[in-house]
Amino acid sequence: MDIRLDAAIRMAQAGGKITLDYFNRPDLRVETKADLSPVTAADRAVEQCLRDRIREAFPEDGIVGEEYGVDAGTSGYTWTIDPIDGTKSFIHGVPLYGLLIACSDVDGPLLGVVYVPALGEMVYGIRGGGAFYKPSSGPVRPVTMRTTETLDRTAMVLTSGFEWATSPMKDFFMSGETMVRTWGDAYAWILLTTGRADAMIDHGIKEYDIAPLRVIIPEAGGAISVWQIPGRDDLAAIVSTKGLHSQLVTRFVDDGVSLP
Ligand code: IPD
Repeated sequence: MDIRLDAAIRMAQAGGKITLDYFNRPDLRVETKADLSPVTAADRAVEQCLRDRIREAFPEDGIVGEEYGVDAGTSGYTWTIDPIDGTKSFIHGVPLYGLLIACSDVDGPLLGVVYVPALGEMVYGIRGGGAFYKPSSGPVRPVTMRTTETLDRTAMVLTSGFEWATSPMKDFFMSGETMVRTWGDAYAWILLTTGRADAMIDHGIKEYDIAPLRVIIPEAGGAISVWQIPGRDDLAAIVSTKGLHSQLVTRFVDDGVSLP
């Protein structure tokens, strides 16, 4: 296995263990960051652990993390870390949060890992080498996404509600044309990759919220598009089966109204 992929999987497992020490504890202290998003000691401890491991194993690599920012590197490899994706869920004792770890090289996104420690499920992928699912027990297996091509009977996942959406996207969510489920968080990426859901629309995210999916989704046979939201420092993403992707993009992005 690629040494950085192997390291990323081990890091995710080590970081995941740290989160479980804090998960669902009534005395977990929540602070509010400058951007008004919540953070806990667990987010910081996990990112610190991951940064230490990267520095030890690959001292020349760059690191970008949600909590501790950017360390420039010289090797051409850059790691992107979200220590807890779904901090709000984590704080509420909802097990759908996860660790997102990605690494890129001079040719672009190289590998990605999504690990949901409270459920023990992981997906990972490496450019040109496929996508894999590591269940809570049993062997690792290659995964492919569904091949859904029509929006009816589709399972679409969001993380929040859809208070951010404008028409026609809001009308679409309300119409019942597709089955919409929320509280996706990091687990949504596992659902999509393992063929249990068809699409995820994520709005108001940063690069560290999506970086591993830039590899895992194409390797699992799906499609991903990410946009800068005009006038904001945030991104929006549509991630779906290949067959649904252009329909979703045409419907919600090309009209220039909804997404971004
Ligand atoms: C959140 C997740 C979620 C997205 C939120 C993000 P965080 O990340 O990525 O899917 O909808 O906007 O804030 O802040 O918990 O790492």
